[in-house]
Amino acid sequence: MALRKLVAGNWKMNGDRAALSELDSIDAAAEAHPGVDVAICPPFTLIVPATGRAPGLAIGAQDCHTAISGAHTGCISAEMLRDAGARYVIVGHSERRTDQHESDAEVRAKAEAAIAAGLVAILCVGETEAERDAGRALDVVRGQLQGSIPPAGTGETLVVAYEPVWAIGTGRTPSVADVAEMHAAIRATLGGLLDGEGAAVRILYGGSVKPSNAAELMAVPDVDGALVGGASLKAADFEPIIAAAA
Ligand code: G3P
Repeated sequence: MALRKLVAGNWKMNGDRAALSELDSIDAAAEAHPGVDVAICPPFTLIVPATGRAPGLAIGAQDCHTAISGAHTGCISAEMLRDAGARYVIVGHSERRTDQHESDAEVRAKAEAAIAAGLVAILCVGETEAERDAGRALDVVRGQLQGSIPPAGTGETLVVAYEPVWAIGTGRTPSVADVAEMHAAIRATLGGLLDGEGAAVRILYGGSVKPSNAAELMAVPDVDGALVGGASLKAADFEPIIAAAA
């Protein structure tokens, strides 16, 4: 089943108010390709101005807390993100799994909090280079899915992003055959975890997606879009990726 593609930009810890001017062209590109869902996940500080600047664009966040509110200094809840105008939130990005030591259980709790708040959770999984070299990539990703997928997730509330850690920001990507093998394995695992909904959950590829490789990656079976880091910061790079998904 062909699912509607989603191209999401993860700005990570980049961007100031001046950078929001990039959204004008991205918004126009999204409008020009109505068959593709387009989202930008800027830093928390830019969510409100981004929704004001590009009302036609879906804005997301890059993390949320597991609780609705309370004594968690410096944290942001999914409810707050929703209130600020966000529609998506990335959870379990490998940079947070590494830097903040987030476990699969915590990632699942964040995804559940996001869904409860009315957001779409973009849940990230992916193996390290050592794990791939050891022939363990499929097992590692299956394990992350089993530990972090919220059982109530649906095609409307959950997106999975496969991001091999070694491909992030390196300019390297897996072969098309490896992407196809992994996405098929993720699809099969989701089928077991989410019953009928497993077929409706979009699976994005992330890791060094750029204008020159986007079309090839989008054509892989079970690649339902992309989660884009560096190439989402400039409209000139991001627009051709949106076009490749159309
Ligand atoms: O979340 C997106 C990201 O980790 C991929 O980054 O810069 O390799 O596209 P990049």
